[in-house]
Amino acid sequence: MNKATAVAHSNLAFVKYWGKKDHELNIPLNGSISMNLSDAKTITTVEFDDDLDADVVEVAGETIDMTSRPGRRVHYHLNRLRHVAGTTALARVTTKNTFPSGTGFASSASGFAALTLAVAAALNLDLPEKDLSILARQGSGSACRSIPAGFVEWHAGNDTDDSYAESIAAADHWDIVDVAVIVTETEKTVSSSLGHKLALNSAFWGVRKPIVEARLGRVRDAILARDFTTFGREMEVEALEMHAIALTSAHETGSGWQSGVFYWETATLELIKAIQNWRAEGLDAYFTLDAGPTVHILCPRDQQDAVQAAVESLRGGRNWSMLVNAPAPGAYLVSE
Ligand code: PMV
Repeated sequence: MNKATAVAHSNLAFVKYWGKKDHELNIPLNGSISMNLSDAKTITTVEFDDDLDADVVEVAGETIDMTSRPGRRVHYHLNRLRHVAGTTALARVTTKNTFPSGTGFASSASGFAALTLAVAAALNLDLPEKDLSILARQGSGSACRSIPAGFVEWHAGNDTDDSYAESIAAADHWDIVDVAVIVTETEKTVSSSLGHKLALNSAFWGVRKPIVEARLGRVRDAILARDFTTFGREMEVEALEMHAIALTSAHETGSGWQSGVFYWETATLELIKAIQNWRAEGLDAYFTLDAGPTVHILCPRDQQDAVQAAVESLRGGRNWSMLVNAPAPGAYLVSE
């Protein structure tokens, strides 16, 4: 076989990866816990072809410039896997997402997980899940969590061989949903790669580290026990603590000095406050936020309609959209 197609789901972190020990190898400063997202996935086909004189990458029907940042990232990732397989064969990569880009879903997570699995299969590399996770991590940190199934923990590790993710519970372990409220499709101005670097500028980084490490155990236990209240409280505080680091990451930019990184829009804060009120009125729902303005509202399945109705009434005439995700499997191959 020299051709394979893989599917990987994006993932949402409940305990966040924010800050790296090693920026080349994507070794994080702390462990993290996430859930794969059913309705946000990447489908990637890779074919090694002796007739090619360069790697070719097509994203959503468009051939991308291999000297651009995304082009180079894919090329480097192909090199990583070629190195493991001991080959120099060139590849044609065709990929598409089931979700729009720039909406707060980590397309690099599902993208590099699907690419890793498809390339490994097309090169006939029979790698264990741990090795696939380690390879995916080098393409994009959070991609290592899109390899294993369902609810996933990324062990920070100290070195490339011990920084990988594994499943802590299968997708059908817990019937919770993520109602993602997309309040704008404008691209963020500070990428997560830069955000990871700037995190160390925050005076609170040292404070966060022991807190986040202790939280990993509590969130893992709450997931295993299906204890939604403990899970929700830990997740919500965690999201605000990650953003407290971003908010206090002072830095120089091309157009001058900034005191910190605001990933929120006005609507993000409006939703946060509304969720606090809805909860006081009896709604069983908690939020988390990634490095962007999208608000992810987590709730037990039986609260989904009420959450969506509450968001709809707050929305008024504004151009928000909702994407609902259940826990999803890990990366898998599909037959040609
Ligand atoms: O994998 P990256 O470099 O896109 O970083 C992801 C950062 C967050 O989404 C904010 C947190 C996380 O753990 O996914």
